[in-house]
Amino acid sequence: MIKSKRFEALSKRPINKDVFMEEWAEKGFIAMKSPYDPSPSIKIIDDKIVEIDGKKREDFDFIDFFIADHSINKKICDDAMKINSLEFSKLMVDINTPRDVLIEIAKGFTPAKIIEVIDNLNVVEMMMAMQKLRARKIPANQAHITNIKDNPILIAADAAEGALRGFREEETTVGVVRYAPFNAIALLIGSQIGRKGVLTQCAVEEATELELAMRGFTTYAETMSVYGTENVFIDGDDTPYSKAFLNAAYGSRGLKTRFTSGTGSEVLMGSTEKKSMLYLETRCLMVTKGAGAQGVQNGAVSTIGITSSVPSGIRAVLGENLIAALLDLEVASSNDQSFSHSDIRRTARLLMQFLPGTDFIFSGYSGTPNYDNMFAGSNFDAEDFDDYNVLQRDLKIDGGLRPVKEEEVIKVRYKAAKVIKDLFNELELSSISYEEIIKVTYANGSKDVLDRNIIKDFEAIDKIMKEDITGVDIVKALIKTGHKDVAEDVLEMLKQRISGDYLQTSSILDEEFNVISAINNKNDYLGPGSGYRVSNETWNRIKNIGNLINKDSF
Ligand code: 5AD
Ligand code: CA
Repeated sequence: MIKSKRFEALSKRPINKDVFMEEWAEKGFIAMKSPYDPSPSIKIIDDKIVEIDGKKREDFDFIDFFIADHSINKKICDDAMKINSLEFSKLMVDINTPRDVLIEIAKGFTPAKIIEVIDNLNVVEMMMAMQKLRARKIPANQAHITNIKDNPILIAADAAEGALRGFREEETTVGVVRYAPFNAIALLIGSQIGRKGVLTQCAVEEATELELAMRGFTTYAETMSVYGTENVFIDGDDTPYSKAFLNAAYGSRGLKTRFTSGTGSEVLMGSTEKKSMLYLETRCLMVTKGAGAQGVQNGAVSTIGITSSVPSGIRAVLGENLIAALLDLEVASSNDQSFSHSDIRRTARLLMQFLPGTDFIFSGYSGTPNYDNMFAGSNFDAEDFDDYNVLQRDLKIDGGLRPVKEEEVIKVRYKAAKVIKDLFNELELSSISYEEIIKVTYANGSKDVLDRNIIKDFEAIDKIMKEDITGVDIVKALIKTGHKDVAEDVLEMLKQRISGDYLQTSSILDEEFNVISAINNKNDYLGPGSGYRVSNETWNRIKNIGNLINKDSF
């Protein structure tokens, strides 16, 4: 066959580096409706749920038991399940039906019922529903702050810049596990220097993460993964009960918690029971609800490669975010791990959450260049900051970020780096040179900074852990080094852990450390003119990108 030049040109487009999979229900490669998915049903005898979605209690696995006994409201489920699914789908987009009404009814739904309701919606209707159903009125954004060298000074500077740009949560993780305490401390301090009240996490193996949390180095944890089949849970030596216990362990120490789940994980782990990805994800979300977590990080997250490979996969991702909102959970809606070589495709995928707004549009926007992202990349990264700001301006959307001035960024980056230097000096940790501070201040990424003496860093980290250094010691050291303002802000974050007000659903802190949550900033969307609207003050900031032609220059 003579080759077509058109096809040759198209084959070189970035989109054709992406992987696409045929539907294969037997192995779970099906987004929303597998022929093997059950039909909705519920049966109660003597105040006990004895059947869910055609499965009898004697055949339940531990996920079914957990959902039956902890997630479904037995008082209302009979009535809720009788509601016509299409009628309920219509109510989801009806501007005259408030969020509360839908949330109350959904407490009585089974997973199959939820799937039936969601499958009636096209993506525009899903976005309309999301606009109304997300818990917090003001949308927000979360950042990944990591680097391939685990350089703590750079983490502090990137955290400060990210906070200045508007992220209300920032999380780090490690390349080398032993660096975790440094990364957590650098993130905590840097973030507060950029903008006060940012919540932070250091995502590592649970025992370490819990320890860092209890020392006061972090304020949230969203690493509690749940799965939709029993086999996958068992593979990770976990159960819904163990996750509920871990959630309580964090919560009782004043940590904001969020579960993580997402379509595609069961496919990846090879145990789908032939069910659709969204059906299994709905089971995860009901486990999350039953375990008492206030929210979830979902939307395929790190399994986006699987979900995005099948037809309607990106629709299913929005579907899972929407189900979380319907279950009254805070949703950090992914846009997380990078999944496509195509800029067009990754932007289209973003719009699903960007346009309606979610509690956190990204559950990890990379606040660093892609090469420094130790969470395996993100859908958008530091190189996309200006694109993102223009998208907000073009569409008058508050996507949680703001344009910033170069001189402001340099200022907070320098301060963050300097404070870390002084703190390390005061606590007799590893030393930081003035040259390192300058390099970090003006860096784009870790390629622009000096290498650390890793042995000395490890000795310092061992000292932190052995001497039981806590957040309070950091506050004291900051005062001694003349950084009283930073000390007060770090102390304020420690106090939040004790008052615990930010354990309410969808909490973030404002710059005065006030809690903004689904309680005092409830989403009250009821059509045009209601719900979240960009205020004049916010609009003035969003409009004011760099690069504008000045009308006075003519
Ligand atoms: N299901 C469950 N957990 C997930 N994570 C990422 N994607 C998923 C998913 N689809 C978890 C990882 C890690 C954190 C980054 O999120 O296991 O804990
Ligand atoms: Ca995250």
